[in-house]
Amino acid sequence: MVNFWHQLALQTKPFLTLAPMDGVTDRVFRKMIAGTAKPDVFFTEFTNTEALTSRGYEKTIHRLAYSDGEHPIVAQIWGTEPKNFSVVARLVRDLGFDGIDINMGCPDRAVMKMGSGASLIDNPPLAAAMIVAIKQGAPGMPVSVKTRIGATKVVTLDWIRFLLAQKIDALTVHGRTAKELSKVPAHWEEIGKAVRLRDEIAPGTVIIGNGDILTQIQAAQAHGTYGVDGVMMGKAVFQNPWVFERPVRQHSAGESLALLVRHAKLYADAYPGVHRFAPLKKYFKIYVRSFHGANVLLKRLMETENFSEVEELVKPELDRLHASDG
Ligand SMILES: Cc1cc2nc3c(=O)[nH]c(=O)nc-3n(C[C@H](O)[C@H](O)[C@H](O)COP(=O)(O)O)c2cc1C
Repeated sequence: MVNFWHQLALQTKPFLTLAPMDGVTDRVFRKMIAGTAKPDVFFTEFTNTEALTSRGYEKTIHRLAYSDGEHPIVAQIWGTEPKNFSVVARLVRDLGFDGIDINMGCPDRAVMKMGSGASLIDNPPLAAAMIVAIKQGAPGMPVSVKTRIGATKVVTLDWIRFLLAQKIDALTVHGRTAKELSKVPAHWEEIGKAVRLRDEIAPGTVIIGNGDILTQIQAAQAHGTYGVDGVMMGKAVFQNPWVFERPVRQHSAGESLALLVRHAKLYADAYPGVHRFAPLKKYFKIYVRSFHGANVLLKRLMETENFSEVEELVKPELDRLHASDG
């Protein structure tokens, strides 16, 4: 299998990835982003290995659905039992994913209590067993890890040294401890330490830095200052759905509203039935901003119940915005 991580790191400096975000970067959102301004790599939302290997399978497998335009795409998984990681690795390979990523950074209390996510930082033997299990389950498939710089305290050097010794293809370092959640600015100097360690002991591992990067200019600065090969961006995409566009360009309020209609249509097609419409509403504020009347429109959009209502509300605004553009 061609190792796309290594190719990317050579070709694009820095390469850009869309962060896995549970409840946000679902297959509909990713498809919208893929058709708008594509990152160099997509990740799925984190998906539980125990659910995928039990009767929960049918309720969970949709999290590993993706469209052709999303390659390279990496399936992010989390769980507790290494043997399930082997089974899921085979599944992920058979589904045509380009790589598999283990979540070793989730700070959610319930996830950590189970011994998963960021609690693995304090349990290196289990973390190593998961990596081995994936390699056994799907030999040759690129394996990556996404982690933080500690669980309760900063332990970058010990933890990253340990992970790099497991011979993984890529490592995303979110520059905060789990305890810090997202409450403090990311410690990019710690990410820089991870890069220097990599240079010393594991030159074959690609390093992706993550935390608070909102623009391509900031991503380039992070590459220049800290030496990361790639930069992962999460909340940036809420501020600008075109954040991955090359070359960077400004987009009008009308373009943004048109994108809302596109996203809503993709969503309605993927999840027919009114009862599932509500989860779409959390995205509306991404698109409705920076024009006169945006607040009123957003309020009315929050009261919609289906795609047609969204379209009906947005159409006159689009006509008005286009008229004022012209
Ligand atoms: C709503 C939400 C859901 C998230 N879900 C995941 C997830 O499933 N897996 C994961 O590794 N990180 C998850 N994260 C963390 C992000 O991937 C990323 O590390 C974090 O947002 C910091 O990057 P940013 O400052 O660019 O947003 C989530 C973050 C948010 C805001």
